[in-house]
Amino acid sequence: MLTGRSLPHQAGLSHQNYLFHLDNLTVEYGNVRALKSVQLTIHPGEILFVTGPSGAGKTTLLNILGGHIEPTSGKAILPHQRSSKHFVASVFQDLRLLQKKTCEENLWMAYDPLIYNSKNDFQREMEDLGRMLYVNDFLNRKIEDCNGGLRQKVAMIRALLSRPTAILADEPTSSLDKDNSYRLFEVLNHYNHKKGLTLVWATHNKDLIKQFPGKIAHLDSGRLVYAGHACFI
Ligand SMILES: Nc1ncnc2c1ncn2[C@@H]1O[C@H](COP(=O)(O)OP(=O)(O)OP(=O)(O)O)[C@@H](O)[C@H]1O
Ligand SMILES: [Mg+2]
Repeated sequence: MLTGRSLPHQAGLSHQNYLFHLDNLTVEYGNVRALKSVQLTIHPGEILFVTGPSGAGKTTLLNILGGHIEPTSGKAILPHQRSSKHFVASVFQDLRLLQKKTCEENLWMAYDPLIYNSKNDFQREMEDLGRMLYVNDFLNRKIEDCNGGLRQKVAMIRALLSRPTAILADEPTSSLDKDNSYRLFEVLNHYNHKKGLTLVWATHNKDLIKQFPGKIAHLDSGRLVYAGHACFI
Protein backbone atom coordinates (compact mmCIF):
# COMPACT_ATOMS: atom_id res chain seq x y z
CA MET A 1 0.00 0.00 0.00
CA LEU A 2 1.22 3.52 -0.78
CA THR A 3 1.87 5.67 2.22
CA GLY A 4 2.78 9.27 2.71
CA ARG A 5 1.79 12.40 0.83
CA SER A 6 0.68 12.05 -2.72
CA LEU A 7 2.59 14.27 -5.13
CA PRO A 8 0.62 16.27 -7.73
CA HIS A 9 1.66 13.99 -10.60
CA GLN A 10 0.57 10.95 -8.59
CA ALA A 11 -2.74 12.61 -7.94
CA GLY A 12 -3.05 12.80 -11.75
CA LEU A 13 -3.18 9.02 -11.77
CA SER A 14 -6.40 9.04 -9.77
CA HIS A 15 -9.02 6.42 -10.52
CA GLN A 16 -11.17 8.99 -12.27
CA ASN A 17 -8.49 9.66 -14.86
CA TYR A 18 -7.72 6.25 -16.22
CA LEU A 19 -9.53 3.03 -16.92
CA PHE A 20 -6.68 0.52 -17.03
CA HIS A 21 -3.27 0.84 -15.49
CA LEU A 22 -0.50 -1.73 -15.72
CA ASP A 23 2.47 -1.16 -13.48
CA ASN A 24 5.76 -2.97 -14.10
CA LEU A 25 3.78 -6.01 -15.13
CA THR A 26 5.33 -9.33 -16.10
CA VAL A 27 3.61 -12.53 -17.23
CA GLU A 28 5.43 -15.85 -17.40
CA TYR A 29 4.12 -19.13 -18.73
CA GLY A 30 6.66 -21.58 -17.29
CA ASN A 31 9.96 -20.51 -18.83
CA VAL A 32 8.36 -18.16 -21.37
CA ARG A 33 8.20 -14.48 -20.42
CA ALA A 34 5.25 -13.31 -22.49
CA LEU A 35 5.18 -9.76 -21.05
CA LYS A 36 8.18 -8.01 -19.51
CA SER A 37 7.87 -5.05 -17.13
CA VAL A 38 5.00 -3.47 -19.05
CA GLN A 39 3.91 0.01 -18.03
CA LEU A 40 0.67 1.09 -19.70
CA THR A 41 -2.21 3.44 -18.96
CA ILE A 42 -5.44 3.48 -20.96
CA HIS A 43 -7.82 6.39 -20.51
CA PRO A 44 -11.62 6.41 -20.96
CA GLY A 45 -12.66 6.86 -24.57
CA GLU A 46 -9.29 5.91 -26.06
CA ILE A 47 -8.80 3.72 -29.08
CA LEU A 48 -5.63 1.69 -28.64
CA PHE A 49 -4.24 -0.63 -31.30
CA VAL A 50 -2.01 -3.35 -29.89
CA THR A 51 0.53 -4.33 -32.53
CA GLY A 52 3.59 -6.53 -32.79
CA PRO A 53 4.80 -9.69 -34.50
CA SER A 54 3.43 -13.14 -33.75
CA GLY A 55 4.34 -14.20 -30.21
CA ALA A 56 5.00 -10.60 -29.10
CA GLY A 57 2.44 -10.83 -26.29
CA LYS A 58 -0.68 -9.15 -27.72
CA THR A 59 -3.15 -11.83 -26.63
CA THR A 60 -1.47 -12.06 -23.24
CA LEU A 61 -1.86 -8.29 -22.80
CA LEU A 62 -5.57 -8.48 -23.67
CA ASN A 63 -6.00 -11.38 -21.26
CA ILE A 64 -4.44 -9.27 -18.51
CA LEU A 65 -6.68 -6.27 -19.34
CA GLY A 66 -9.75 -8.53 -19.27
CA GLY A 67 -8.74 -9.99 -15.91
CA HIS A 68 -8.65 -13.46 -17.48
CA ILE A 69 -5.11 -14.17 -16.25
CA GLU A 70 -3.06 -12.89 -13.33
CA PRO A 71 0.32 -11.21 -13.66
CA THR A 72 3.37 -13.11 -12.41
CA SER A 73 4.61 -9.85 -10.92
CA GLY A 74 3.61 -6.20 -11.06
CA LYS A 75 0.13 -4.80 -10.86
CA ALA A 76 -2.95 -4.57 -13.09
CA ILE A 77 -5.61 -2.06 -12.06
CA LEU A 78 -8.77 -2.84 -14.03
CA PRO A 79 -12.02 -0.87 -14.25
CA HIS A 80 -14.40 -3.80 -13.69
CA GLN A 81 -12.47 -4.79 -10.57
CA ARG A 82 -12.71 -1.24 -9.21
CA SER A 83 -16.38 -0.59 -9.86
CA SER A 84 -19.44 -2.61 -10.80
CA LYS A 85 -20.42 0.35 -13.04
CA HIS A 86 -17.89 -0.89 -15.56
CA PHE A 87 -18.28 -3.83 -17.85
CA VAL A 88 -15.40 -4.92 -20.09
CA ALA A 89 -16.33 -7.11 -23.04
CA SER A 90 -13.77 -9.43 -24.61
CA VAL A 91 -14.02 -10.51 -28.23
CA PHE A 92 -11.26 -13.06 -28.53
CA GLN A 93 -10.42 -15.56 -31.24
CA ASP A 94 -12.63 -18.31 -29.81
CA LEU A 95 -15.60 -15.83 -29.92
CA ARG A 96 -17.54 -17.79 -27.26
CA LEU A 97 -20.68 -18.15 -29.35
CA LEU A 98 -23.14 -20.99 -28.78
CA GLN A 99 -22.77 -23.13 -31.91
CA LYS A 100 -26.21 -24.78 -31.79
CA LYS A 101 -28.02 -21.49 -31.25
CA THR A 102 -28.96 -18.99 -33.95
CA CYS A 103 -27.26 -15.61 -34.45
CA GLU A 104 -30.28 -13.90 -32.91
CA GLU A 105 -30.31 -16.21 -29.87
CA ASN A 106 -26.63 -15.47 -29.33
CA LEU A 107 -27.30 -11.73 -29.55
CA TRP A 108 -30.10 -11.95 -27.00
CA MET A 109 -27.55 -13.26 -24.51
CA ALA A 110 -26.46 -9.62 -24.17
CA TYR A 111 -29.92 -8.49 -23.05
CA ASP A 112 -29.96 -7.10 -19.55
CA PRO A 113 -33.19 -5.54 -18.21
CA LEU A 114 -31.09 -3.32 -15.95
CA ILE A 115 -29.52 -1.51 -18.90
CA TYR A 116 -32.40 -1.53 -21.41
CA ASN A 117 -35.72 0.17 -20.77
CA SER A 118 -37.53 -2.55 -22.69
CA LYS A 119 -37.02 -5.57 -24.91
CA ASN A 120 -38.14 -3.38 -27.81
CA ASP A 121 -35.23 -1.00 -27.17
CA PHE A 122 -32.84 -3.93 -27.25
CA GLN A 123 -34.43 -5.34 -30.41
CA ARG A 124 -34.15 -1.94 -32.12
CA GLU A 125 -30.47 -1.57 -31.28
CA MET A 126 -29.80 -5.15 -32.36
CA GLU A 127 -31.49 -4.56 -35.71
CA ASP A 128 -29.71 -1.22 -36.23
CA LEU A 129 -26.34 -2.88 -35.67
CA GLY A 130 -27.38 -5.87 -37.77
CA ARG A 131 -28.34 -3.54 -40.64
CA MET A 132 -25.04 -1.66 -40.49
CA LEU A 133 -23.06 -4.89 -40.56
CA TYR A 134 -25.29 -6.89 -42.98
CA VAL A 135 -26.23 -9.49 -40.38
CA ASN A 136 -30.03 -9.15 -40.34
CA ASP A 137 -30.57 -11.60 -43.23
CA PHE A 138 -28.84 -14.31 -41.20
CA LEU A 139 -30.42 -13.87 -37.77
CA ASN A 140 -32.13 -17.27 -37.94
CA ARG A 141 -29.00 -19.13 -39.00
CA LYS A 142 -27.26 -21.38 -36.46
CA ILE A 143 -23.72 -20.28 -35.61
CA GLU A 144 -22.35 -23.68 -36.70
CA ASP A 145 -23.65 -22.92 -40.21
CA CYS A 146 -22.15 -19.40 -40.38
CA ASN A 147 -18.81 -18.54 -41.93
CA GLY A 148 -15.99 -17.05 -39.84
CA GLY A 149 -16.67 -13.46 -40.89
CA LEU A 150 -20.34 -13.61 -39.93
CA ARG A 151 -19.40 -15.15 -36.58
CA GLN A 152 -16.95 -12.34 -35.89
CA LYS A 153 -19.63 -9.75 -36.66
CA VAL A 154 -22.17 -11.49 -34.39
CA ALA A 155 -19.61 -11.64 -31.57
CA MET A 156 -18.86 -7.93 -31.94
CA ILE A 157 -22.54 -6.93 -32.09
CA ARG A 158 -23.18 -8.99 -28.96
CA ALA A 159 -20.32 -7.19 -27.22
CA LEU A 160 -21.72 -3.78 -28.24
CA LEU A 161 -25.23 -4.71 -27.10
CA SER A 162 -23.90 -5.43 -23.63
CA ARG A 163 -23.14 -1.65 -23.42
CA PRO A 164 -19.58 -2.10 -22.18
CA THR A 165 -17.24 0.60 -20.92
CA ALA A 166 -14.53 -1.04 -23.01
CA ILE A 167 -14.17 -3.72 -25.66
CA LEU A 168 -11.01 -5.82 -25.85
CA ALA A 169 -10.76 -7.32 -29.32
CA ASP A 170 -8.15 -9.83 -30.45
CA GLU A 171 -7.73 -9.81 -34.25
CA PRO A 172 -11.50 -9.40 -34.65
CA THR A 173 -11.34 -8.96 -38.42
CA SER A 174 -9.12 -11.94 -39.28
CA SER A 175 -11.94 -13.62 -41.25
CA LEU A 176 -13.35 -10.42 -42.78
CA ASP A 177 -12.43 -8.87 -46.12
CA LYS A 178 -11.24 -5.26 -46.34
CA ASP A 179 -14.70 -3.68 -46.80
CA ASN A 180 -16.24 -5.62 -43.93
CA SER A 181 -13.27 -4.87 -41.66
CA TYR A 182 -13.63 -1.14 -42.33
CA ARG A 183 -17.36 -1.26 -41.83
CA LEU A 184 -16.96 -3.04 -38.48
CA PHE A 185 -14.38 -0.57 -37.37
CA GLU A 186 -16.58 2.34 -38.47
CA VAL A 187 -19.37 1.06 -36.23
CA LEU A 188 -16.96 0.78 -33.28
CA ASN A 189 -15.59 4.23 -34.05
CA HIS A 190 -19.16 5.56 -33.98
CA TYR A 191 -19.73 4.02 -30.52
CA ASN A 192 -16.42 5.52 -29.45
CA HIS A 193 -17.55 9.02 -30.53
CA LYS A 194 -21.17 8.79 -29.39
CA LYS A 195 -20.86 6.78 -26.18
CA GLY A 196 -17.21 7.14 -25.22
CA LEU A 197 -16.55 3.43 -25.76
CA THR A 198 -12.92 2.54 -25.03
CA LEU A 199 -11.46 0.16 -27.54
CA VAL A 200 -8.36 -2.01 -27.31
CA TRP A 201 -7.77 -3.78 -30.59
CA ALA A 202 -4.95 -6.26 -31.25
CA THR A 203 -4.24 -6.35 -34.95
CA HIS A 204 -1.70 -6.85 -37.73
CA ASN A 205 -3.85 -4.69 -40.04
CA LYS A 206 -1.73 -1.59 -40.74
CA ASP A 207 -4.23 -0.20 -43.29
CA LEU A 208 -6.92 -0.07 -40.63
CA ILE A 209 -4.61 1.67 -38.17
CA LYS A 210 -3.72 4.31 -40.76
CA GLN A 211 -7.38 4.88 -41.61
CA PHE A 212 -8.67 5.50 -38.10
CA PRO A 213 -7.46 7.76 -35.32
CA GLY A 214 -6.03 6.00 -32.30
CA LYS A 215 -2.97 5.24 -30.27
CA ILE A 216 -0.59 2.34 -30.60
CA ALA A 217 0.97 0.00 -28.08
CA HIS A 218 3.67 -1.89 -29.96
CA LEU A 219 5.02 -5.07 -28.39
CA ASP A 220 8.18 -6.89 -29.31
CA SER A 221 9.18 -10.10 -27.50
CA GLY A 222 7.00 -9.14 -24.54
CA ARG A 223 8.35 -5.62 -24.17
CA LEU A 224 6.24 -2.55 -24.79
CA VAL A 225 8.59 -0.75 -27.16
CA TYR A 226 6.28 2.07 -28.24
CA ALA A 227 3.15 3.61 -26.76
CA GLY A 228 1.79 6.72 -28.39
CA HIS A 229 0.14 8.20 -31.42
CA ALA A 230 -0.33 6.10 -34.51
CA CYS A 231 1.11 8.72 -36.86
CA PHE A 232 4.62 7.57 -35.94
CA ILE A 233 4.33 4.08 -37.42
N1 LIG B 1 -0.88 -20.67 -22.45
C1 LIG B 1 0.41 -20.53 -22.80
N2 LIG B 1 1.35 -21.39 -22.36
C2 LIG B 1 2.64 -21.25 -22.69
N3 LIG B 1 3.11 -20.25 -23.48
C3 LIG B 1 2.23 -19.38 -23.96
C4 LIG B 1 0.82 -19.44 -23.65
N4 LIG B 1 0.18 -18.44 -24.28
C5 LIG B 1 1.13 -17.76 -24.95
N5 LIG B 1 2.35 -18.31 -24.76
C6 LIG B 1 3.63 -17.81 -25.29
O1 LIG B 1 3.75 -16.46 -24.85
C7 LIG B 1 4.28 -15.64 -25.90
C8 LIG B 1 3.26 -14.53 -26.23
O2 LIG B 1 2.13 -15.14 -26.82
P1 LIG B 1 0.84 -14.34 -27.27
O3 LIG B 1 -0.17 -15.35 -27.67
O4 LIG B 1 0.47 -13.38 -26.20
O5 LIG B 1 1.40 -13.54 -28.54
P2 LIG B 1 0.62 -12.78 -29.70
O6 LIG B 1 1.33 -11.47 -29.91
O7 LIG B 1 -0.83 -12.73 -29.38
O8 LIG B 1 0.88 -13.72 -30.97
P3 LIG B 1 -0.05 -13.90 -32.30
O9 LIG B 1 0.17 -12.68 -33.17
O10 LIG B 1 0.53 -15.14 -32.93
O11 LIG B 1 -1.46 -14.07 -31.87
C9 LIG B 1 4.58 -16.56 -27.06
O12 LIG B 1 5.93 -16.95 -26.94
C10 LIG B 1 3.67 -17.75 -26.81
O13 LIG B 1 4.22 -18.92 -27.36
MG1 LIG C 1 -2.52 -13.45 -30.34
